[in-house]
Amino acid sequence: MYNKLLTNVHLLFYAAAVVRISTASTVLTGNATSTFQATITECLNVRGQVITNRKFELQCCQLFSNRYKLYWFREGNYLTEALETLKTWRCPEFEEDCTQRIYGFTEFTQRVYDRACNRTLFESACLPTVFRVLSDAGVNVTDQNWRHALRNVQLEMHALQYPCIQVALYDAVSAARQSSYGFYHETVHLHTPFCHFVWVGFDAETTVQHSIFPWLFLRTDKSRTSQDVYKASIAMADLIVG
Ligand SMILES: *[C@@H]1O[C@H](CO)[C@@H](O)[C@H](O)[C@H]1NC(C)=O
Ligand SMILES: *[C@@H]1O[C@H](CO)[C@@H](O)[C@H](O)[C@H]1NC(C)=O
Ligand SMILES: *[C@@H]1O[C@H](CO)[C@@H](O)[C@H](O)[C@H]1NC(C)=O
Repeated sequence: MYNKLLTNVHLLFYAAAVVRISTASTVLTGNATSTFQATITECLNVRGQVITNRKFELQCCQLFSNRYKLYWFREGNYLTEALETLKTWRCPEFEEDCTQRIYGFTEFTQRVYDRACNRTLFESACLPTVFRVLSDAGVNVTDQNWRHALRNVQLEMHALQYPCIQVALYDAVSAARQSSYGFYHETVHLHTPFCHFVWVGFDAETTVQHSIFPWLFLRTDKSRTSQDVYKASIAMADLIVG
């Protein structure tokens, strides 16, 4: 057990050492010499943009994917963004993530995977909830304009607790802006395996409007099945094995 923990600590230090300040990120979106090695900083700087050189794109896929696996539980590392980034770079890791869904141990993260991996699945799972919530708010929408409507209605606090609504808000903010980076925030709270695992996400405007604090959702009565605990354990085991 101690060995495993030590390995994990080493990995973290290693990852920290790999991150170095560089201004060469523009190289990634242009064409560069074959000796160039992408660094995680350079890759992070071009999130949301297509990397023209496929070799660098694949390097970034790997660096980014490894970094997310190390830091997924930390503030500022969002599953929504990670999947979006891997998708933009056409990463083999994206297909793997969609198949494995290793962070899919909450309803929120399941819907995040649905949206990133299979839009049809997301819409069939979530649009009924979105339409119902909007209808409760007195707004009539169509398949086309629900994103706009969702961003322009004052949502009730209880509506915000639906994972489908949280992911739909991400979808809406992504559609409304060139890039959602910085406009959507997730919070992950890891307690002991027998307690609650909280993973939620909101767009910036909603967070401000409702003064949302992470502890709010600790009070909601969600079922805690042994399967949830099992999946959380797998995710942590996966993290430790690296
Ligand atoms: C990149 O490649 C294109 C086409 O091959 C070429 O026209 C352009 O000058 C190159 N840019 C740089 C910065 O080398
Ligand atoms: C996406 O989800 C739909 C609905 O569940 C399913 O019929 C379809 O096969 C899925 N597509 C892929 C590519 O997995
Ligand atoms: C919503 O649309 C339906 C069908 O188009 C219509 O019957 C209904 O009156 C509309 N409701 C509101 C509140 O506009």
